[in-house]
Amino acid sequence: MMRRRSASVATAALLLAVSTSPRQAAHAEEARAAAPAAPLTKFEKAPQGEAEQIGQIIALTTQLLQMRYPEGMARRGVHPKDHGCVKATFTVNSDIPPNYRAGVFATPGKKYPAWIRFSNATPFLAPDLGKNGKPDSRGMAIKLIGVEGDTLLNEPGAKTQDFLLINLPAFAFPNVSEYLEVTKIQLSNHDDILPFLTQNTPERLKTRAVVAKILQTNVGNPLESPYFSAAPFLYGSDRVAKFSVTPRSAEKTPVPANPTTNYLREAMKKSLDPANGKPAVFDFKVQLRNDDSLPIEDATAEWSETTAPQQNVATIEIDQQDFDDAYQVTECEHMAFTPWHGLTAHQPIGGINRLRRDVYIASSKFRSQPKEPTGFPKWPW
Ligand code: HEM
Repeated sequence: MMRRRSASVATAALLLAVSTSPRQAAHAEEARAAAPAAPLTKFEKAPQGEAEQIGQIIALTTQLLQMRYPEGMARRGVHPKDHGCVKATFTVNSDIPPNYRAGVFATPGKKYPAWIRFSNATPFLAPDLGKNGKPDSRGMAIKLIGVEGDTLLNEPGAKTQDFLLINLPAFAFPNVSEYLEVTKIQLSNHDDILPFLTQNTPERLKTRAVVAKILQTNVGNPLESPYFSAAPFLYGSDRVAKFSVTPRSAEKTPVPANPTTNYLREAMKKSLDPANGKPAVFDFKVQLRNDDSLPIEDATAEWSETTAPQQNVATIEIDQQDFDDAYQVTECEHMAFTPWHGLTAHQPIGGINRLRRDVYIASSKFRSQPKEPTGFPKWPW
């Protein structure tokens, strides 16, 4: 049974947009115009005031982008730096168990061409190991081309299914109200969120625990890390799942003693080198929610694998290739990955996912318009 959210994101963001410049307001307006609010599924409970908070975050995100990119080429609102964007094949396993055959996984043996973009989460271009020499969250975004079924956003073009994954099973912020607080601090404190982290509320303790894990999880090569959706999704009409990806090889390249600015791109290039490298293979897994106690509305909460085991459902193969080719790099910079590019059978659910729909649209719209330069770019800032 689906319910409609009462308050509209559009109205809330419109109220906020009055404090922004005409261009910011136009971008926020375009983002909201994309589609009406998605229906709430029977698995979700949106707290009162959430729609207004989402409207505020859209307006603040646009202001953040304006602050970071007053001119020249704008980048993604988060994950602006990629290590490589590669062509891949995504094949549904021929032995996928019958109860996992739903959405893009409905047909055993089905093959999809896919783009995969590996990235750093830090919202600005920076060395792979930051100023303090600590790692940041790493991303893997997968776009399947030519999927079949009803899609969530009525966009022109091929039907696609995107899966956006990070290298830990928990997201750093539990819900929309916490995300609003951190976004306000980013804006007022030039992207430094330390004041947010130092507050001792129960929600901040959850964030601190995830951030501590991020800082300890160093990756030597993006092709050798596991990745997780962290947030939940529909799986067919009446089930819920989280997704993850595990590299089949156990190889672990150590982080170099003196890592270069782009050591993760360099490691990927070496691995996939057409002459001397080898293909990278990953298992794509589904963790079905089999117990009502597994949280939907808290994206910092991991689901126990003892309660809800992971099941291999598909295989990702990335052949050796020269992905650092100028055409491929540009192609990918212009692409937009969002968990809302996909089938209704995999509708993103939970507060953090409800928030993501219009924020990703706002970010990709903002960066699609070049801004006239007054000088050379200011990177890194
Ligand atoms: C479970 C939670 C989340 C995960 C796993 C996740 C993962 C990712 C990944 C992997 C990317 C890079 C996509 C690419 O390569 O193009 C990305 C981009 C982005 N994320 Fe998230 N994210 C999460 C939550 C959020 C939230 C709560 C927000 C803010 C509301 C957000 C805002 C963005 C934006 C603005 C982009 C760039 C969109 C564009 O310009 O195309 N993300 N995310």
